[in-house]
Amino acid sequence: MNLEEHFERTVRKDQRIEPRDWMPDAYRATLVRMIAQHAHSEIIGMQPEGNWITRAPSLRRKAILLAKVQDEAGHGLYLYSAAETLGVDRGELTEKLVSGRQKYSSIFNYPTLTFADVGVIGWLVDGAAICNQVPLCRSSYGPYARAMIRICKEESFHQRQGYELLMTMMKGTEAQRRMVQDATDRWWWPSLMMFGPPDADSSHTERSMAWKIKRHTNDELRQKFVDMTVPQAEALGVTLPDPDLRWNAQRGHYDFGEIDWAEFKRVLSGNGPCNAQRAARRRAAHENGAWVREAAAAHAAKRTERKVA
Ligand code: 3HC
Repeated sequence: MNLEEHFERTVRKDQRIEPRDWMPDAYRATLVRMIAQHAHSEIIGMQPEGNWITRAPSLRRKAILLAKVQDEAGHGLYLYSAAETLGVDRGELTEKLVSGRQKYSSIFNYPTLTFADVGVIGWLVDGAAICNQVPLCRSSYGPYARAMIRICKEESFHQRQGYELLMTMMKGTEAQRRMVQDATDRWWWPSLMMFGPPDADSSHTERSMAWKIKRHTNDELRQKFVDMTVPQAEALGVTLPDPDLRWNAQRGHYDFGEIDWAEFKRVLSGNGPCNAQRAARRRAAHENGAWVREAAAAHAAKRTERKVA
């Protein structure tokens, strides 16, 4: 059996491809693209909620938010480490991010206007991330699948803390209830866009599914998220901003309205509400942190010299 046949058989048998295994260049390139952009999303995703750490309404909320934002940094590190098993360097990936040559999730280009946004991000954005990422725990590439297991466990905490925050606000004043509804109105449709373009416009899904990198299509996971979230919204007492949302007993799913794909394309092309701010902040953090990287490298070199001497 030649290397290609061995690769195909491993994937077909739902076994894992490991870093030292032979893999098609296109398989490697797809994984680098997907894992790098996932890692970038985690790191950029620290910004919207990070804005509220110093303004959290209580010590408890501040501690929870600090833990969550710190988790996102850790997710980024796991994923950059998974990407490095494919022969790329995280410094190069960061350069591609800050120069706009690689993407991060569209969802993080929206502003967090009130503290209710912190709850809605936990509920909807981390809820969508769980829908999108639990199947990746069965991805054919070993390091990615294993990184996702711990990430998904932590995302569950993220989703629950957000929903609990909103439950508390909905039992509060009328003004707090209005804040939750306003945040839900602003984050609902961008959360559906997180799952990517419609399957018919998805350039990568077919191949990623054949290689069992992705285990479901964009539309399948989007539908799963809608079906899971509608009862949660009802329990919370908020209205999802879609007049076409209704249960379809024949399909056994919720029908929902048309997503504004023009907005999605605008955000992907860098013209979302916060794209420039997010990129500038990430670039500044990378530049301001150069001395730390240089000091760590110098320290490592000295230790190696001492060992060799
Ligand atoms: N934001 C930005 N770019 C997106 C996007 C989105 N929401 N959805 C799709 N795209 C891009 C793709 O990257 C691709 O562009 P590229 O060729 O330049 O990479 C193009 O649009 C076509 O989309 P496809 O559907 O063909 O691409 P994929 O097959 O890669 O599917 C995906 C897109 C569903 C996001 C898939 O890449 C994926 O599942 N990635 C892993 C999970 C991930 O990255 N999730 C990000 C969520 S953020 C997060 O989890 C943080 C948490 O703390 C909330």
